[in-house]
Amino acid sequence: MKVHVDHERCQGHTLCAMTAPQAFELSDIDGHASPVTEQVPVEQEADVREAVQSCPERAISLVEE
Ligand code: F3S
Repeated sequence: MKVHVDHERCQGHTLCAMTAPQAFELSDIDGHASPVTEQVPVEQEADVREAVQSCPERAISLVEE
């Protein structure tokens, strides 16, 4: 599973990083989220799926493999 954050949509709500802190990091500059790694480790998949649902801007997308 791969994860992507659309920086055009991201408004820095931070819910993704609170839901899956191992999987997302927030920029000190603009507060936008980025995946720590595009390829999601299997043990983080459940948290990342929850983070997708948590984002009010629907900025996070998954590619299932
Ligand atoms: Fe951005 Fe959504 Fe996370 S707006 S900071 S991707 S909760």
